[in-house]
Amino acid sequence: MKILAFESTCDETAVAVVEDGRKILSDQIFSQAKLHAVYGGVVPEIASRSHVESISLLTERALESAGIARSEIDAVAVSYAPGLIGAVLVGVNFAKAVAATLNVPLIPVHHIRGHIAANYLAFPELEPPFVCLAISGGNTLIIDVRDYTDMHILGATHDDAAGECFDKTARVLGLPYPGGKPIDELSKGGDDRRYAFPVGNVAGKPYDMSFSGLKTAVINLAHHAEQTGEELDRASLAASFTRAVSESLVPRTMQAVRECGYGQLAVAGGVAANSRIRADFQRAAEEQGIRLFIPPMRLCGDNGAMIGAQAYYEYLAGTRAGADLNAYASMDVSQNYPG
Ligand code: KG4
Repeated sequence: MKILAFESTCDETAVAVVEDGRKILSDQIFSQAKLHAVYGGVVPEIASRSHVESISLLTERALESAGIARSEIDAVAVSYAPGLIGAVLVGVNFAKAVAATLNVPLIPVHHIRGHIAANYLAFPELEPPFVCLAISGGNTLIIDVRDYTDMHILGATHDDAAGECFDKTARVLGLPYPGGKPIDELSKGGDDRRYAFPVGNVAGKPYDMSFSGLKTAVINLAHHAEQTGEELDRASLAASFTRAVSESLVPRTMQAVRECGYGQLAVAGGVAANSRIRADFQRAAEEQGIRLFIPPMRLCGDNGAMIGAQAYYEYLAGTRAGADLNAYASMDVSQNYPG
């Protein structure tokens, strides 16, 4: 089954063709990062307008590079929540029109379910149940993936998402947006014990997280240095910050894996591209004797293929949307459409 999939929830416009949930036939991505970099973060209206400009061309390219005719598309999928509402609406409306034109089913896909499904593309052997840590620009969740469309949230951040924290720290350090990759690179020459940063916990909720204290600590350190004229060791600051994020994510995720007893952990989302976090999970998984799945870098960030992958399993579960499909700024990953 060939699914044409659309992703436009934030600042990537992406269109892909995926076969049977596991095989990428084409995956076109246009990153708007440069358009937003000058503002230090995503500007929602600019994001929506850019999606409008590029989605048609990307669709042509996706079909062309997949080497298939429009008539060979069996279904259309779209990421319909959560995200910047104007941005999501562009993909939803475009996908509706394409599905109506081709006269094929329309499958709504939760964006975070898509991130989880990036692992199905990278690892043909991976099947639920497993625990998934989804770490992106807007979400930080520990999820019990009981089945392809049966998910339960074990823990979540109470404030900032991990990616947001990377982006804000990068801003303080004068690094470009999005800040995760520049911090990753900068941290490589640094001493991760040079600065002491807090690791946020939430009383009585072992799987919940908090990153706002860490963010504030970085801001205070930078302001204090500015006022006293002290020169910061930027590489060590980046390394110490990343260690704090990793210490907040890795032990509690491993605890969740132990508690669920599946012996399998998948990590997903843009922050899963972080080299330190990947290495820490690798080590912890070896120690705990569990199987670890982290997609290759290009499947960690937003892409259309992950939406096409999850869409296949949504289709098998009977999920279909009509012409009244709407876009949603927020939605629980455990909620099945129509909710
Ligand atoms: O999953 P994603 O592409 O978009 C959302 O759905 O949010 O994640 C984007 C986030 C950004 O905050 C970006 O700074 C972060 O992923 N990121 C990284 C790295 N590469 C991207 N964070 C840490 N280390 C990286 N190497």
